[in-house]
Amino acid sequence: MRHPLLILSLSLALGACVERETQPSGSEDFASYCAACHGMSGKGDGEGATALGRKPADLTQLSAKNGGVFPGTRVMAKIWGYTGAAPGRQDAGSPMPEFGPLLQGDLVPYDGGDGIATPTPVRLVQITEYLKALQE
Ligand code: HEC
Repeated sequence: MRHPLLILSLSLALGACVERETQPSGSEDFASYCAACHGMSGKGDGEGATALGRKPADLTQLSAKNGGVFPGTRVMAKIWGYTGAAPGRQDAGSPMPEFGPLLQGDLVPYDGGDGIATPTPVRLVQITEYLKALQE
């Protein structure tokens, strides 16, 4: 007879292996870490948005508000800025949480629009590319 607990622990172990090998995509990371506030559309209409004192930014208008150019470097700095946040940092007081997992993993050269390819965590690149694709 097969034991349900054994099956459970086997599938958990398998799940852990699979997770280590497959990197979440930009849209998956966005769904996990950002959509609660910014909404899956990026328009700032996530379920958590109403509970915040500050309205989450409309992430579909980043290029429009930047003269038609996607502000890749600024967007990454915004996300990056929340890890190891120090008091008095530029973003002090923003309700955006920390995104440690997005900053782990392989580094890839990425030019966020300033002409300089900087070694950047791959998941940060993916989520930035995802946001770029959301621009209206
Ligand atoms: C707890 C709610 C919350 C979560 C989760 C959250 N944000 Fe935000 N975000 C905000 C709020 C509120 C603002 C507007 C205030 C500010 O700029 O800090 C904002 C602003 C931003 C801005 C600045 C937009 C501009 O016009 O410059 C970017 C970019 C951004 N968020 C991206 C993200 C990304 C990417 C994620 C997921 C990795 C994320 N946010 C997760 C609440 C959130």
